[in-house]
Amino acid sequence: LNYNVTRDGRFILEILFNGLRRLEYRGYDSGGISIDSSSQSFLSSNLNGQFSNSAPPPLVFRQEGNIESLVKSVYNDVASMELNLEEPFSVHAGIAHTRWATHGEPSPKNSHPQTSGAGNEFLVVHNGVITNYEVLKETLIRHGFNFESDTDTEVIPKLAKYVFDKANEEADQSVTFGQVVLEVMRHLEGAYALIFKSRHYPNELIACKRGSPLLLGVKELSEDMGTGASFLDLKFISENGHPKEFYLSSDASALVEHTKKVLVIEDGEVVHLKDGGVSILKFENDKGKRGTALSQPSSVQRALSFLEMEVEQINKGNYEHYMQKEIHEQPESLTTTMRGRLKHGGSCKGKTVLLGGLKEHIKTIRQSRRIVFIGCGTSYNAALAARPIIEELSGVPVTMEIASDLVDRQGPIYREDTAVFVSQSGETADTLLALEYALENGALCVGITNTVGSAIARKTHCGIHINAGCEIGVASTKAYTSQIVVMAMLALAIGDDAISSQARREAIIDGLFDLPYKVREVLKLDQEMKDLAKLLISEQSLLVFGRGYNFATALEGALKVKEVSLMHSEGILAGEMKHGPLALVDENLPIIVIATRDACFSKQQSVIQQLHARKGRLIVVCTKGDAASVCPGGSCRVIEVPQVEDCLQPVVNIIPLQLLAYHLTVLRGYNVDQPRNLAKSVTTQ
Ligand code: G6P
Repeated sequence: LNYNVTRDGRFILEILFNGLRRLEYRGYDSGGISIDSSSQSFLSSNLNGQFSNSAPPPLVFRQEGNIESLVKSVYNDVASMELNLEEPFSVHAGIAHTRWATHGEPSPKNSHPQTSGAGNEFLVVHNGVITNYEVLKETLIRHGFNFESDTDTEVIPKLAKYVFDKANEEADQSVTFGQVVLEVMRHLEGAYALIFKSRHYPNELIACKRGSPLLLGVKELSEDMGTGASFLDLKFISENGHPKEFYLSSDASALVEHTKKVLVIEDGEVVHLKDGGVSILKFENDKGKRGTALSQPSSVQRALSFLEMEVEQINKGNYEHYMQKEIHEQPESLTTTMRGRLKHGGSCKGKTVLLGGLKEHIKTIRQSRRIVFIGCGTSYNAALAARPIIEELSGVPVTMEIASDLVDRQGPIYREDTAVFVSQSGETADTLLALEYALENGALCVGITNTVGSAIARKTHCGIHINAGCEIGVASTKAYTSQIVVMAMLALAIGDDAISSQARREAIIDGLFDLPYKVREVLKLDQEMKDLAKLLISEQSLLVFGRGYNFATALEGALKVKEVSLMHSEGILAGEMKHGPLALVDENLPIIVIATRDACFSKQQSVIQQLHARKGRLIVVCTKGDAASVCPGGSCRVIEVPQVEDCLQPVVNIIPLQLLAYHLTVLRGYNVDQPRNLAKSVTTQ
């Protein structure tokens, strides 16, 4: 929303499209936008003069497919409507959305903004899922509403219209936009971040949230607002008449090119943008008030924070794809993850690790009865890779939980437990639900995320940011290696009081200092992995065997291959080989075996021999110089990687598999950064 600054229609469209491009990695099956039009020709031709006494209805454009197909269709529609894109607006409120379908297939009618019906009286874009939409839909149908889409979202604008009409019938005074939205929220169950635009409240926008992320960016155009935090309230913004623009987004990457001044909206807050000002209202779910007069909300004051993100981070630079860029920037991302956290040590104390976010809790963690790691997808795999070193250095039993499974089972979590929540985005719905469950059960909750201000970062008692920088490729790569490093540092911090393991800890710290160099070395395998991808391009299936520290590598390598290259791939615990997987082995199926030097090396050598005896097509990842000892008779393909401390080896070993997944995808002609049916941040269950 811009205020007091003249912007033409084309500028406004481009701002919205660019915002969507930044968010496309979160959803890319369809999209839509709404902008204002004062074109009377549009009014009369499209609405037969209906509503001609009030503000013109907002225009809505929706399209199936990626953002560029939306852009193309909007410009085509605009041309055929003969709309004048040079028309200046001194205030304008636009909304846009890119969708990843939950309810209803990708199609224009299911895209957002969803509308209240003819005349676009209320328009809504939504991130999340409304769980009670069926009940609301039935009620609204009984009140005469017709539904056009298959989405859960459509009930929201229709409910807004219902509340608005009813309030205006009953009250002498007209109802405010904020009151309408607060009343709508009272009826909604589920998770949502919403932005409302209404024909009845031109030049206003309302956003609210419960469960899904939402940020407000404030850009003042005539005066440098500085970098320090300032307070945001209606008075502050509206009393100074500077031109300004406000941006609402579910993700910082859409804001950072406009402003770094942001407000992280809390659950239950309603942000009202009007007359160049912002008011933040608090939603209190007072169900008892339902049906009575709409309440007068009071506004709250909140501090703005400053985004620690650079525009370059969200550009591809010289790379073709984000995934490629993120794989290759791992030496830098790992360095940033460790920055300021490793101490060389002085004369009285050896090398140590400092994790500021855990300072007051480390003793409690050490004394826990159990440490439970909870996550989904790649984050779960990273925790699995770190599990052995945490067990070794802390002596505390470690159990692993896939977030959704813990919640499904309502598995036991105790007050004496430390529950560690691992999530790149910090917003994954399943992980968040598991966090709420662990909080209810009284466990100490620790967050490991890549997103400052995310729900998991805010709701846990303490935590560690992995500081890997913005990750945009849907397939997580650099966040995975940074997560492992953070958890290795966590193991060092928990075990810091044990004299017996001091030498081991110091060796790991040395290994951490060295790790970015080793990662740079392993990245030189790029061409070799591309050649291997060429050989595997037409395969139907691929198995990856690992054990010990590298069971996680097998799972994560297989996950990378399947999620982006769409080739079936399974990670298998090598110790389980004889209990089923061996039946699959023949001369056709390619099998990757991770057999780098560690305590499991000789067992992996024996696995290779058994696979070889069944004529398996083997690709072995081994330590540099070990080719002859892992490859009987030179019959397999060998990928040699540098050796690091055993607990850090998964960081090095995953990189050739990331490269393989990347090249396989490009060669097979699939979209690397936006794999079919997947989203970066799964904020719905
Ligand atoms: C989705 C993404 C994965 C990610 C998982 C967990 O499935 O596609 O790449 O590993 O969510 O996400 P989180 O943000 O919690 O790490």
